[in-house]
Amino acid sequence: MATRIIVTGRGGTGKSTFSALCVGALEGPKLVIDADPDQCLSTLLGIDLQTEGIKTVSEAMHEIQTGNAGQSMESMPLPEKIEYLLQLSCLHEGPGFDLLTLGVKWTRGCYCAPNNTLRSLISELSSNYDFAVFDSPAGLEHINRRVVSRADDVFAITDPSAKGLRNTRRFAEIANGIDFSYKNLYIVANYRFSAELTESLTDTEHARYLGKIEPDSQVESFDWSGRSLLDLPQQSPACQSVRKVLEKAGYKTIDRKLT
Ligand SMILES: Nc1ncnc2c1ncn2[C@@H]1O[C@H](COP(=O)(O)OP(=O)(O)OP(=O)(O)O)[C@@H](O)[C@H]1O
Ligand SMILES: [Mg+2]
Repeated sequence: MATRIIVTGRGGTGKSTFSALCVGALEGPKLVIDADPDQCLSTLLGIDLQTEGIKTVSEAMHEIQTGNAGQSMESMPLPEKIEYLLQLSCLHEGPGFDLLTLGVKWTRGCYCAPNNTLRSLISELSSNYDFAVFDSPAGLEHINRRVVSRADDVFAITDPSAKGLRNTRRFAEIANGIDFSYKNLYIVANYRFSAELTESLTDTEHARYLGKIEPDSQVESFDWSGRSLLDLPQQSPACQSVRKVLEKAGYKTIDRKLT
């Protein structure tokens, strides 16, 4: 059973960067799920979905709903169609990790049935890996969408603002209200925290404080030039601090490049 990691937080706090660096730091096969409609995690991992002809899950679902999924699938029941398309067209298979990109929410109307099917398929798919790393869109609506229904560890990446910490508390409250279960909720200070403010961070009633991600000019320049964050030097401040945070949460980390 995969350990399920959810990375959450307000907009622009560094969720996708943290998720990508987790992929590089964790040992064992990983399923990475990009739930942000902006779909930037693929780029941070050095993957060009378009060139590879990989579809987002939303695109595949749209094809099914508009009857454009291909004749060979016409007679298949919906769950089988979704499973087939997910595996065939949506999964990027890479060294050490596979990536599933959800994309923008598909078309109008109630799609509870495909959403439910998708949830159970993601759950099933995750069981083939040691880890499932789920990069969330900004805010908290994603837990309502419930593409995953439970997590082991939730890393809340927090910026130096009162809203940032409030967001972590809201996560706990919303999760509680909708029976979204998780084992641990962790606060991770993002790269914008000053040394002074970092000192004031402690555990809260809902979450344990794990540490800070150091500012790293190479993260910005890699992001800017479209280079994979998996190529960052392992000794870079961001890589080191992500490893430290993961180790504090009890994970075993590696400091070599994925092969
Ligand atoms: N440790 C770091 N040092 C310097 N810059 C960083 C660091 N981590 C992230 N950044 C920069 O901060 C910006 C936002 O990062 P990222 O895209 O990971 O945030 P996000 O929370 O996923 O954003 P969104 O809410 O839009 O999905 C990017 O320009 C990224 O390069
Ligand atoms: Mg992001």
